[in-house]
Amino acid sequence: MKNKDSISHVTGTSIYIDDIITRSDTLHGVIFASQKAHGKIISIDYSEAEKLEGVERIFTFKDIKGENQIGGIIQDEALWAKDEVHYAGQPIALIVAKSSFIARQARGLISIEIEEFKVITTASEAKEKKLFVSNPRHFSIGNTEEAFNECTYIFEDVTFTNGQEHLYLETQGCYVCPEENGHFKIYSSTQGPTILQKIAARVLGIPMYQIEVDVLRLGGGFGGKEDQATSWGVMAAVAAQHLNVPIKIILDRHDDIKFTGKRHPYESSFKIGLTKDLKIHAFEADFLQNSGASADLSPAVAERTLFHATNCYSIKNVHTSVYPCKTNLPPNTAFRGFGGPQGMFVIESAIAKAAHQIGVCKSIIQKKNLLQENDIFSYGQIAKNVETENSWNLAMELSNFSIIKEEIKQFNKNNKYIKKGMAIMPITFGISFTNTSMNHARALVHIYLDGSVGISTAAVEMGQGVNTKMLQIASQEFGIDASKIKIESTNTTRVANTSPSAASSTTDLNGKALLKACIVLKNRLINIAARELLSDKKDLKFENNYVINLTQTKKISWEELITIAALERVQLSEKAHYATPEIYFDKKAEKGHPFAYHVYGTSVTTITLDCIRGTYEIDQVDIAHDFGKSMNLDIDLGQIEGGLVQGIGWMTLEEIAYNKEGILTSNSLSTYKIPDVFAVPKKINIKAIETNGNDLAIYKSKAVGEPPLMYGIGTYFAIQDAIQNFNPNYEQKFHAPFTPEKVLLALYES
Ligand code: MTE
Ligand code: HPA
Ligand code: MOS
Repeated sequence: MKNKDSISHVTGTSIYIDDIITRSDTLHGVIFASQKAHGKIISIDYSEAEKLEGVERIFTFKDIKGENQIGGIIQDEALWAKDEVHYAGQPIALIVAKSSFIARQARGLISIEIEEFKVITTASEAKEKKLFVSNPRHFSIGNTEEAFNECTYIFEDVTFTNGQEHLYLETQGCYVCPEENGHFKIYSSTQGPTILQKIAARVLGIPMYQIEVDVLRLGGGFGGKEDQATSWGVMAAVAAQHLNVPIKIILDRHDDIKFTGKRHPYESSFKIGLTKDLKIHAFEADFLQNSGASADLSPAVAERTLFHATNCYSIKNVHTSVYPCKTNLPPNTAFRGFGGPQGMFVIESAIAKAAHQIGVCKSIIQKKNLLQENDIFSYGQIAKNVETENSWNLAMELSNFSIIKEEIKQFNKNNKYIKKGMAIMPITFGISFTNTSMNHARALVHIYLDGSVGISTAAVEMGQGVNTKMLQIASQEFGIDASKIKIESTNTTRVANTSPSAASSTTDLNGKALLKACIVLKNRLINIAARELLSDKKDLKFENNYVINLTQTKKISWEELITIAALERVQLSEKAHYATPEIYFDKKAEKGHPFAYHVYGTSVTTITLDCIRGTYEIDQVDIAHDFGKSMNLDIDLGQIEGGLVQGIGWMTLEEIAYNKEGILTSNSLSTYKIPDVFAVPKKINIKAIETNGNDLAIYKSKAVGEPPLMYGIGTYFAIQDAIQNFNPNYEQKFHAPFTPEKVLLALYES
């Protein structure tokens, strides 16, 4: 099935928040934020701004009727700063005016005096001062101390991975309409409608039922709208509560980049020990997460770093720690991979270091240590249906590895100033929210009198194609054309108490709930069909808009069946709830079975490096990926390509820069470079591994949203490989992104 949104996207008729036709009395909000990263607010003068023609009112913490508190996991974040500011970009007030243009003008008229405090921008500084947003966590298996004594080789080093701007095409925004009796309808570009509903109720001081959140679709989220779409919706709701008119907030790109958190930068260190036959016998890592000024999702992101710290390698003795460090940056947040990529970069760096020091190819150590069936992860889950070796072998085949490797060798021999490099990146990623209680979803299905169907779930469409997959499920179960089915907007009144669309689990969770509801309806309808067709229920099939008796070639049309059912007062609506079975996690012991299943795959990346300029091109990426039994290969291939390129951007070009004062200097698209058409691989080959899928994946079609981002990590090591082919004096560094500037320095260091 084609992506159901493709025609409206291409013709420009898809509706995003800014396209909603607004009431004529709508006012517009612009956020006044701190320009200092840390300090005490001495005074603020709003009088000039308030005098500006068209300014309606300026809202601050004083206007909050409930709690000035938007923290999710930990309640440590104010909606609007009261006495102190903790990062540049922290909201202080909302200016509401006749237009956003006027509101922005007014913003320039506000004067503020701040007594500046010391600014901390790095995780290591924060750790030294013992500033954390939440407690450190430690995962352990075996005994690393003893194991290191048994190792022939031991290597240690430090690594750094920078943050990453989400750069969803649709900036953050919301439109809030007051309704009668103090109720509010919030249209929001959020991955988490319930989070927004809950926090808006908390801040406004009203029950959740007075707030209805509605989400049609997002112009991309990538994790950046899991928690951080909330505050805009809440601010607008506070203004609507006071003014009783609709309020709209759409952040412009500059505001969006400056105000919102990003992927967490990590400063990490590792110690890896290998036996003489190159088995990784012990691994230790400390991860310093730059969490930003408040917790946001950082504790959960930190946890996932530990879950993925050994990637898809079999290591018996592991000890890893993560420290969520409190700094004066915007609170960093979910970003595709959710801490996993940061963990995986470190183990790959450790292997690269060991390989170089020992004098073997990195792939030899990788290959020797690939995860095997029934291996135990450091968190206690037993690896099942492992496809690591399988994907590795297939990727070798797909890329013609041994031939290409020889060609690269020859090429590098024959070329002085152009070098090629290559790297292999096997991955595994756990599917489920790491917080077990979040792994459930609901669906609501209405069959209307004319046989058309309306479906509501908690799934938020953000470009990943989940609505198309929901459509496929209902269409397949009922055996009717997709044109008879509508996927409704995601709405907290129709489907309540939902988890955000995240953790790559949206299709699994919501799809399973939808499937359950459809099956109940089918069972109800089949009784009628059996009677009408004088057939046994088990001989009936829902197919091609009919219920057909296969043995007697009798059939009844879907519409006819629904007409009869309605006349006989049969319930044509159904809701269902699905909670992932089998999963649990004991946070005291740091052991359990947190994931429904794992996704596997391997990429092979080859690059060409211009050793005069320090620039590089990615020639080819070959990927063998475990889709299970993909229910929509077109969409899933799109997810692989998008994830890969996003991972490449993180590893190569995208350089977030804050100065010492904690001011974001990479604050626009002229100073923050994301991959363009020249930066993407010239060729991407993707092959599906033939697997049985997994019963906890909907239709055995495994989750695909986040895992492919981590194929991009291979790019870093392919560039490193090319540099090593040019400069024998280059001392390995593990400091991403590997921008052309850094590459050039590496090429000529002595
Ligand atoms: N693909 C597109 N086009 N846009 C997005 O915002 N988000 C990613 C991934 N793929 C995203 C995307 C992230 S961070 C996640 S968690 C998953 O999609 C969420 O959707 P899923 O659970 O349906 O895979
Ligand atoms: N992944 C993504 N988002 C989340 C998670 C997770 O594991 N836990 C809470 N939010
Ligand atoms: Mo994705 S980072 O779980 O929204």
